[in-house]
Amino acid sequence: MDFLKNVVQAPPDPILGINLAFAADSRSDKLNASVGTYRQNDLQPYIFPSVKEAERVLFSQEKNKEYLPIAGEADYLKATQQLVFGQADLSRICGMQAVGGTGALRLTAEILSHAGLNTLYLGEPTWGNHQNIFTTVGFQIRSFPYFDFHTHRINFAQLCEQISKMQAGSALLLQASCHNPTGCDFSKDEWKEILRLIQRHQLFVVFDLAYQGFGEGLEEDVWPIRLFVQEGVSCAVAVSHSKTFGVYAERVGALFMVCASPTQAEIVLSRIKVIARRAYSNPPCHGARVIKTLLQTKELKALWEKELQEVRQRIASMRQLLVSELSLHLKQDISNFSYLLEQKGMFAFVGISSYQVETLKKKYGIYLTEDGRINLGGVNAQAVQTLVRALAQIPDIQHSTS
Ligand SMILES: Cc1ncc(COP(=O)(O)O)c(C=O)c1O
Repeated sequence: MDFLKNVVQAPPDPILGINLAFAADSRSDKLNASVGTYRQNDLQPYIFPSVKEAERVLFSQEKNKEYLPIAGEADYLKATQQLVFGQADLSRICGMQAVGGTGALRLTAEILSHAGLNTLYLGEPTWGNHQNIFTTVGFQIRSFPYFDFHTHRINFAQLCEQISKMQAGSALLLQASCHNPTGCDFSKDEWKEILRLIQRHQLFVVFDLAYQGFGEGLEEDVWPIRLFVQEGVSCAVAVSHSKTFGVYAERVGALFMVCASPTQAEIVLSRIKVIARRAYSNPPCHGARVIKTLLQTKELKALWEKELQEVRQRIASMRQLLVSELSLHLKQDISNFSYLLEQKGMFAFVGISSYQVETLKKKYGIYLTEDGRINLGGVNAQAVQTLVRALAQIPDIQHSTS
């Protein structure tokens, strides 16, 4: 008997599948400007020297590779907690090491489902995996417009109106900074307004924090999370260290549940541990120990902060170049692209249509994600020029006919 005959072929992952298609493309001048990893100017994968050094220190000191506790490496969690929450009173926050940001979101979905929540509101557009993670656990997904494709910005008034109509007792996922894919973040005043609304309408915010340090700075990028904690609000914070430390493959992340009281934090943690124990038993140690070593060693931490600043600067210079190239080749006033300079983090969201994305790939060997986001951390000056010149050759059929 063929027990597996009813398994249906799954499509390739819309984001990671691009890497496979790119690798299979034999054109020598092909360009991958899609998947969200940071590259140096030579477009080769980048390991932060501070991370490499922390790994070397760890190598000489590590005494065992025995199982970690279910919640993970305690010192790693402590250091990560400080990075995210600063000096806040942490007694009502429980922390759990997670298998990357994705694992943290999955744990979030499971614990919220256990708590009785069953509806999640997601901004449109958002990172493609959000919906999958939460529907797998049984959540109903409702979407709300996040990005206005005409103004290339968040339509904040409309967004607030939508939040006001959300069903009390639901969860709302918000990216803390460097929004993927649009790069559009809320201002401080807007975050304060959102805080007021979620309190009034009794919503539970899930913060997705995947790009700390890639926007304005390590402290600035977690400002909304600290605001919520300071105001006594309960929320979840799903942390990914994949980009922040460039440790994508090590799968380092954490989930922090900001609870109503220290007692509740203990109870919630005990339940998340059960969830983890049944899924993967306990987390991997290597990446977490590397990050712990880095954050606990003053010189390495300072070095990493400097390297992160250089990463930010390189991305900002690519953003500037993109704007000037678009203005030049699309023969438009530079001010028409000012919205791109307001966007934060790795991604630039120009509003490239799916027709253009497809043509860029077929005709020019240039790969973008389906939604047309450009990863400014994965290109250099030559790549930006190549991309914009190709784009200028493709009339935006979708937009011009709609
Ligand atoms: C917004 C967002 N959240 C979460 C993740 C998942 O992070 P990780 O790769 O650590 O699982 C990503 C990864 O690209 C992301 O962009």
